[in-house]
Amino acid sequence: MNTPNIGWIGLGKMGTPMTQQLLKSGYNLIVYNRTKEKEAAFQAMGIGTAPSPAALVNQTDFIFLMVTDDQAVREIFSGEDGLLRARPTGKIFINMSTVSPDVSKEMAAECRKYGNEYVDAPVSGSVKQATEGQLVIMVGAEEKTFLQVKPVLDRIGRLSLRVGPTGAGNTAKLAINTLLAICSQGLSEAVLFAKHNGIAVDDFTQLLNHSALGSPYFKIKGDAIVQKNFQPAFALKHIAKDLRLAHDKGLTTPLAIETYQTFQEAEPTLGEEDIIAVFKSLGA
Ligand SMILES: NC(=O)c1ccc[n+]([C@@H]2O[C@H](COP(=O)([O-])OP(=O)(O)OC[C@H]3O[C@@H](n4cnc5c(N)ncnc54)[C@H](OP(=O)(O)O)[C@@H]3O)[C@@H](O)[C@H]2O)c1
Repeated sequence: MNTPNIGWIGLGKMGTPMTQQLLKSGYNLIVYNRTKEKEAAFQAMGIGTAPSPAALVNQTDFIFLMVTDDQAVREIFSGEDGLLRARPTGKIFINMSTVSPDVSKEMAAECRKYGNEYVDAPVSGSVKQATEGQLVIMVGAEEKTFLQVKPVLDRIGRLSLRVGPTGAGNTAKLAINTLLAICSQGLSEAVLFAKHNGIAVDDFTQLLNHSALGSPYFKIKGDAIVQKNFQPAFALKHIAKDLRLAHDKGLTTPLAIETYQTFQEAEPTLGEEDIIAVFKSLGA
């Protein structure tokens, strides 16, 4: 295939910087976002926009989705002006959203009815990594389809790895995000224990960063706790959603269950804040 034309659906916190990597690499893009204001910056750059997913699909070869959840994915594929309403054929749909393996299997079956392929390709990393093209991408797809889309994925991330057939990327992502939630809660509990026993929070995070446990994640989120900065890079409501998906798929081991409960309880009040706002829910 010559250079594919790319359709991009979802210009949120992640989708927007991810498109910038593709634009920098010279790909032609047409974008769609449900809330039209988010398309304005693209229009100002002379990039094509589409009024609906259905209107975008037949002008493009690879169609990416980076949207919230299972419901959004179902609406975008099967809704009134959804992708499949346009009866596309020969397209590859690449869903990078964090969703359930089940919705990927369902959408893949729908796509194949008309001779299209579906790839689940969720990402690890947040806005910073998306902006720098440094995401880690876990892929569920047939090997042949993966190899077709890999050159594009390699512009978005520093690693794209196929881990199995449809849904396997989503399963890997749920495993990673469960660990992310456990680490966020663990960091919060350790900081609170130290604080309640008279240790300054910035002294504690400095020690942690220089210890064998020091890591980029603990550094970023430790700094956020010190600065009381809970602006969302990764909204707490999204990790609560991911823990629900993992729970529904049978992840009920002790730490996973504890963390699942903590985040479900925190979501109604702290859902729009960052994942590390869990610190506040634990008695900060
Ligand atoms: N933020 C992170 O650090 C991070 C990291 C890794 C993975 N993820 C995952 O990446 C995905 C996107 O996250 P984000 O942080 O970019 O979220 P976000 O900023 O909230 O953006 C969500 C996007 O989904 C669209 N959307 C939601 N429901 C829709 C529907 N029913 N129909 C059409 N579009 C719909 C939104 O459109 P509107 O503008 O109209 O609302 C927006 O474009 C999520 O699955 C998240 O779990 C996020």
